[in-house]
Amino acid sequence: MRSFTEKSVCILGRQPALGLAELESIYGAEHVRPLDGAALLDVPAEDINFKRLGGTIKTARILTEVPTTDWQNLANYLVEKVPPYVKDMDIGKFTLGLSLYGLNIPLKQIEACLLEIKKQVRQSGRPVRIVPNKAPSLNSAQVLHNKLTYKGAWELLFIKDGQRTLLAQTLFVQDIDAYAARDQARPARDARVGMLPPKLAQIILNLALGQMADGLEDKTKLRLLDPFCGSGVILQEALLAGYSVLGTDIEPKMVDYTKRNLQWLFEKQTNLEGNVVVEVADATSYKWPGFSTVASEVFLGRPLNSLPPPDKLKQIISDANLITKKFLKNLAPQLKPGRSLCLAVPAWRKSNGQLIHLPLIDQLTDMGYNYSDLKYVRREELIYFRENQVVARQLLRLEKQ
Ligand SMILES: C[S@@+](CC[C@H](N)C(=O)[O-])C[C@H]1O[C@@H](n2cnc3c(N)ncnc32)[C@H](O)[C@@H]1O
Repeated sequence: MRSFTEKSVCILGRQPALGLAELESIYGAEHVRPLDGAALLDVPAEDINFKRLGGTIKTARILTEVPTTDWQNLANYLVEKVPPYVKDMDIGKFTLGLSLYGLNIPLKQIEACLLEIKKQVRQSGRPVRIVPNKAPSLNSAQVLHNKLTYKGAWELLFIKDGQRTLLAQTLFVQDIDAYAARDQARPARDARVGMLPPKLAQIILNLALGQMADGLEDKTKLRLLDPFCGSGVILQEALLAGYSVLGTDIEPKMVDYTKRNLQWLFEKQTNLEGNVVVEVADATSYKWPGFSTVASEVFLGRPLNSLPPPDKLKQIISDANLITKKFLKNLAPQLKPGRSLCLAVPAWRKSNGQLIHLPLIDQLTDMGYNYSDLKYVRREELIYFRENQVVARQLLRLEKQ
């Protein structure tokens, strides 16, 4: 068996299954080992293309392992190791934050450990500041706004792994401000078609592409198709990742939205290299010019604030099912065998949390597709929703037969 040496750790987002699926898709199951709410990778943290991950909050470099999970021993370890190390660093002021994962320690004890480190670093003559914990782990905003991934600052992580604890240092943290800017500041937005969060668009894209772009010298040669492009969030994320894009939508207004949004993106971000084609087209019949793969959020049916009466819901499901089914039939002969793709399709949540699925998800084999299942995440877990949402998105990771 191949040995696995963990080099980095990814702390996963609100729906860890999606973040884990994304990492497995990009790096392959043999390079990933899941932990509760996190994933270990045998890929060095600096080689991870962090900005393109939608489901990871932080990526940290593993520094060492400590053969205990006992807090007092761990705290003593930090107090012993950190001050002498910081003393010799070529920096002015030092800032330190500490996050614990899988270790449920009262905040007072975390604070006591940090204060002891602070005292000792200060005694060596270096100004030092600690970031107070509001919870056992710091959130993205705290890491970002305290600049803990910059020179002269550390966020250290203790991650419990069975009988041992890994010590890691955060290199990257999700830039929540950048996500908000490219979500809310886009010129053309339409609440009626639902807002696809950019992070989810990245996950869909990564589940579709997998390792397709590995080793590709010119990424713009890979052309991503979104046949239900709406306001263009998936196309935007594909362009930011360096690919070319082809977007179509049946509604001229949505095509216009996508064009305006991508125009804005190119003005804001002048280093984008991918080509863009956006056209009005019906996904149930159109023959697209060349494309590499498909990542799309298909027609989700009407937005709903509550579950409608059964006959109305039946109609909504039937309409959504029909469009996606016709689209998949139209797409099948245009895809190369073995090609992977990812679609977000609707699923309706009952008040007890149960899901009503699109009927077609059980008929995909007859339509020329197989599920492209992952090792660590079951296909039923690939569901994105917020607590108050009726229409959830189910992610189908497929492969053309
Ligand atoms: C859920 S939205 C996609 C939103 C998109 N992800 C975004 O970033 O805004 C679904 C889109 O499918 C389009 N649509 C519905 N039926 C279609 C069809 N037959 N062919 C192409 N597009 C269609 C709608 O106009 C709508 O823009």
